[in-house]
Amino acid sequence: MTQAIDHPCLPPGKYPALRVVPMPADANVHGDVFGGWIMAQVDLAGSIPAVERAQGRVATVAVNSFLFKHPVFVGDLVSFYADIEKTGRTSITVSVEVYAQRMRHSNEIVKVTEATLTYVATDDSRQPRVLPAI
Ligand SMILES: CC(C)(COP(=O)(O)OP(=O)(O)OC[C@H]1O[C@@H](n2cnc3c(N)ncnc32)[C@H](O)[C@@H]1OP(=O)(O)O)[C@@H](O)C(=O)NCCC(=O)NCCS
Repeated sequence: MTQAIDHPCLPPGKYPALRVVPMPADANVHGDVFGGWIMAQVDLAGSIPAVERAQGRVATVAVNSFLFKHPVFVGDLVSFYADIEKTGRTSITVSVEVYAQRMRHSNEIVKVTEATLTYVATDDSRQPRVLPAI
């Protein structure tokens, strides 16, 4: 398991679901990373605690909120923190916070994005499945 990263700008005691460095193909000509790339990584990061809770496959049913607070640049080290907010009969709602470490510049860490997504546990026929007891 990835270790919690000890830094005053990062959530204390938590470990990221995902860490990745965007490449030039993920950005426009100015080096600003596409929002769609960030959304894809957020969906992936959020699905990790959802799959663990569902003990099996899930499908994204809704993106409830998505806020791009600051840009992400090529070469940033981007960390995605994902936490389950609530669960229902078949659904799991996850909040994802995204931090970018400006590796090629000042090295500062900036919270760049926050989002909330809902996943549904699904069976082999892609139909909703009741969440297993914890
Ligand atoms: C996910 C899917 C299997 C759910 O099937 P469904 O018949 O619509 O499911 P239901 O209406 O029974 O709802 C299932 C759960 O999702 C929740 N849900 C449905 N729509 C929602 C929405 N807009 N926002 C939040 N939760 C929602 C329901 O409240 C329910 O939760 P609960 O069981 O915990 O109370 C189906 O919608 C699907 O296959 N969607 C496509 C998934 C996909 O391809 N995702 C990738 C993005 S392209």
